[in-house]
Amino acid sequence: MKTYIIVGGSKGIGNAIVNELSEAHKIINISRTAPEMEHPNVTHHTCDILKDDLPDIEEVDGLIYCPGSINLKPISRLSLDDFQNDFEINVLGAVKSIQKYLPQLKKGKNPSILLFSTVASKLGMPFHASVATSKSGVEGLVKSLGAELAPTIRVNAIAPTVTDTALASKLLRNEKMIENITERHPLKRLLNPKEVAATATFLLSDKAASFSGQIFEMDCGIVSFKI
Ligand SMILES: NC(=O)c1ccc[n+]([C@@H]2O[C@H](COP(=O)([O-])OP(=O)(O)OC[C@H]3O[C@@H](n4cnc5c(N)ncnc54)[C@H](OP(=O)(O)O)[C@@H]3O)[C@@H](O)[C@H]2O)c1
Repeated sequence: MKTYIIVGGSKGIGNAIVNELSEAHKIINISRTAPEMEHPNVTHHTCDILKDDLPDIEEVDGLIYCPGSINLKPISRLSLDDFQNDFEINVLGAVKSIQKYLPQLKKGKNPSILLFSTVASKLGMPFHASVATSKSGVEGLVKSLGAELAPTIRVNAIAPTVTDTALASKLLRNEKMIENITERHPLKRLLNPKEVAATATFLLSDKAASFSGQIFEMDCGIVSFKI
């Protein structure tokens, strides 16, 4: 049994990861609201990553950082505050979590860190300037820390396309929008949080001992193929 800290396990992809990992592992969730589930292996700490001190935790084998943003506007309507807010939640929150738990991770059992990027870092899309800039920072962090912390701690990221969570709800407001977005993907589907959680579980596991510094595109073909 390992101990995983999940920042942002109350909802969305993070919550699916909590559900998947909690059968076999101890989970410490950190978010502003508690997950809507109770499990003997899950402990919750209420904390705003941008404002509060993170709780002291003695043993950590893995860290997953899930908070992010989808703030889509034309560049003329994106303020510098938008860019700063996106950088804070996507990059600085991850840095703060990693710095806090690095000493414990270094002593962990085959430890690893998992962050989240987006397909918009690789695929240029209108109105994504702010989030793509921040998530490119996340990808730089993965590469840099993967090298710096090798061979002790593995560092990877998943870059999902649109996933059915609260964060993406504005993009998936009605059937027509869902159909349009689905149709743009060569595999003619979107992601659900459970399948992202399955990839996360693999990347955190000892079966992924050879992977570090990698960005795993879960793109339903939108970055990989032009059909
Ligand atoms: N969904 C998509 O379509 C999509 C696409 C590409 C990339 N991604 C990336 O995938 C990751 C997960 O996305 P998601 O859709 O699962 O997001 P989500 O539904 O918004 O869930 C985010 C989680 O982070 C927590 N959180 C947010 N702000 C926080 C803060 N200040 N302090 C502490 N916890 C905070 C939330 O909990 P509380 O509200 O309880 O604090 C929640 O548990 C993100 O990095 C996102 O950018 C998502």
